[in-house]
Amino acid sequence: MNAPLRDRSAQSDDLAKFQRVRAAMPMLAKGLSDEDLSAQAMADASPGKWHLAHTSWFFEAMILNAQPGYEPVDARFQALFNSYYDALGERVARDRRGLMTRPSVTEVMAYRAEIDRRMTQWLSQGPIDGRERYLFALGLHHDQQHQELFLMDLLNLMAASPLDPAAYEREPRARSVEAAVGGATRFDGGLVEIGADDVFAFDNEGPRHRVFLEPYALDHDLVSNGDWLRFMADGGYARPELWLADGWATVKAEGWTAPLYWSQSQTGEWSTMSLTGRRPIDLSAPVRHVSAYEADAYARWAGKRLPTEAEWEHAARQSPDAFSNLFGEVWQWTSSAYAPYPGFRPTEGTASEYNGKFMANQLTLRGSAFATPSGHERVSYRNFFYPHQRWAFMGLRLAEDATGRGTKPLLEDAVTAAFRRDLTQGLSAAVKSLPPKWFYDAEGSRLFEDITDLPEYYPTRQEAGLLAKIAPALAEAFGPEATLVEFGSGASAKTRILLDALPDLAAYVPIDISPDALNAAADRLREAYPLLRVTPIVADFGHLDPLPPLEGQGRRVGFFPGSTIGNLEPQEAVSFMTGARRLLGEGALFLLGVDLVKDPLTLVAAYDDAQGVTAAFNRNVLVRANRELDADFDLSAFEHRAIWNAAQQRMEMHLVATRAMTVDVGDRSFRFAAGETIHTESSRKFTEASLRTMVEAAGWTVVRFDVSAEPSVAMVLLRG
Ligand SMILES: C[S@@+](CC[C@H](N)C(=O)[O-])C[C@H]1O[C@@H](n2cnc3c(N)ncnc32)[C@H](O)[C@@H]1O
Repeated sequence: MNAPLRDRSAQSDDLAKFQRVRAAMPMLAKGLSDEDLSAQAMADASPGKWHLAHTSWFFEAMILNAQPGYEPVDARFQALFNSYYDALGERVARDRRGLMTRPSVTEVMAYRAEIDRRMTQWLSQGPIDGRERYLFALGLHHDQQHQELFLMDLLNLMAASPLDPAAYEREPRARSVEAAVGGATRFDGGLVEIGADDVFAFDNEGPRHRVFLEPYALDHDLVSNGDWLRFMADGGYARPELWLADGWATVKAEGWTAPLYWSQSQTGEWSTMSLTGRRPIDLSAPVRHVSAYEADAYARWAGKRLPTEAEWEHAARQSPDAFSNLFGEVWQWTSSAYAPYPGFRPTEGTASEYNGKFMANQLTLRGSAFATPSGHERVSYRNFFYPHQRWAFMGLRLAEDATGRGTKPLLEDAVTAAFRRDLTQGLSAAVKSLPPKWFYDAEGSRLFEDITDLPEYYPTRQEAGLLAKIAPALAEAFGPEATLVEFGSGASAKTRILLDALPDLAAYVPIDISPDALNAAADRLREAYPLLRVTPIVADFGHLDPLPPLEGQGRRVGFFPGSTIGNLEPQEAVSFMTGARRLLGEGALFLLGVDLVKDPLTLVAAYDDAQGVTAAFNRNVLVRANRELDADFDLSAFEHRAIWNAAQQRMEMHLVATRAMTVDVGDRSFRFAAGETIHTESSRKFTEASLRTMVEAAGWTVVRFDVSAEPSVAMVLLRG
């Protein structure tokens, strides 16, 4: 009964995705002249018009041409817009693409529109098989790759003009640059796994495999323009001892004295070309447009080295929060050759030439750039360029060996580094804020448990009562031998209601960021339920690794009570629920506990109790920063405030500065005006409709929706 419905909804998802991705490049082209879109300034770059056409050709060559009786839109375009697919026939040499004044931009846009029409028809024909699905996804990701290439090549063209033209008024970027945080994180290394996860990936990102890493450290920040100027001032481009032989030969042959697009005025000021025209160098911004040779020389000058790609990926998986601009600013050079992973097989068929044939003489870059379309980045993504190339949005982050002796004291453990990053970035923002997960050190977790006993704090009591009422029905829905995976489990107090109703549970996997609370809870549960397998995992549920192998024969059931989901920003909540669905796998259920919108007086009282326990909980994050980050918050100068934000349907907790002051966090200083606040927590309240919208956006279906007596909370059972 459900199958045709599912097919139709998968089809409309695919169509929406197709339309969204395909709309992006024409948006980039809007406002550019036909001349801007047709010229080519160097052999490596292509005209915008060519990108607009080639990304359409790709769908035709990979998917449409294979349809029985298919007639190409224009047979001549098969060669004009083939990039490098030798098996697919003739093509125009790359360095001659700028000479194709015909077809015109208008004709290319008509070609695009016709391909979009044919693809829409193809998508509406009915279910597509696994291979076609991969090629369809590949076509979308290929289009996104070219959206970035479009911008790289456009900048190259603009930089070749004596007028230094601005392509755009504002830099087209997916997100804003993150402030530097200082320091580095040390990783023990050992045998680690890298490579594509179970999501779409290009063929070169797999197979997933093991790599041995010696202990190493990776800098939290990208190398900045200011850093680069110091390198230049110290004779960086004039000292052969800093350079690889091929690098030094390139410096001499090309006359390099600075990154690509930099130029120095007669009065000595440096500027660089950007998509918004020529701009003075911003010293704090990450350096862009340096080759692997320059990156390597810089690293040697700085007494460090470039990371290997396995180190970069391992660090990014282990503690993404420790780093600034891991993604979304510049691709980061690694010292790793772009080579096949063990067991690599190119995609079979027409797309076999996509990546594999370039696996010689190039180096990999990791992360993503400001111009990378959002959603296109991946931790396993392997970008690659020749070591002399520098027109891409590329920069660097340094690594060093960390094998005991000589390891510098500035290295922090990953959790402290992530806390430092969040606090320094949060205090640098126009509206100061800090993610609520930092509340939960041992003392914070203890204070939260005290909150759950307060007369004003209704959510825990109401949720426990509701859970007790529906537990027998839930047990039936879960089925035998289920594995219960709880996110943000804290003291696992309410969990006991479920455990009592589920005598044949195969395992309980509590996940929490607070190791003290988690381990103490696990010990208590093992004692109370000696037959139950309890497998606690200390982790940030925002960045979860695949679960360890679990023994149960039954389904996996996610459990996320306490309305902790309300602490996430709406988009984060959808990403979390999507990730949880993937993590729990086929056939999973999910039990979500949320607080509902209600009278503001009840809400405010719950977050501002008469005994001041919530105030102590809120202020404890400053105590933690003073202890762990060498900060000097004056606790008596910050007041707890709880307010109902009706527009956003959320309770907010703030710490209000009662006077103007400067606060130091390590070697950084932050100004507070009197009355300025740090926004420390949002607790979103839901209606049935807003809850359904959120979980359905993440691919879950509501199976049951139970509401407690007043003050009302809801327990929602979802199916993946
Ligand atoms: C509001 S409490 C809820 C505790 C418990 N689930 C309940 O319903 O009473 C939030 C819990 O989530 C944990 N937590 C908060 N942010 C987290 C994160 N990003 N990753 C993992 N655990 C987190 C906290 O340590 C705390 O135990």
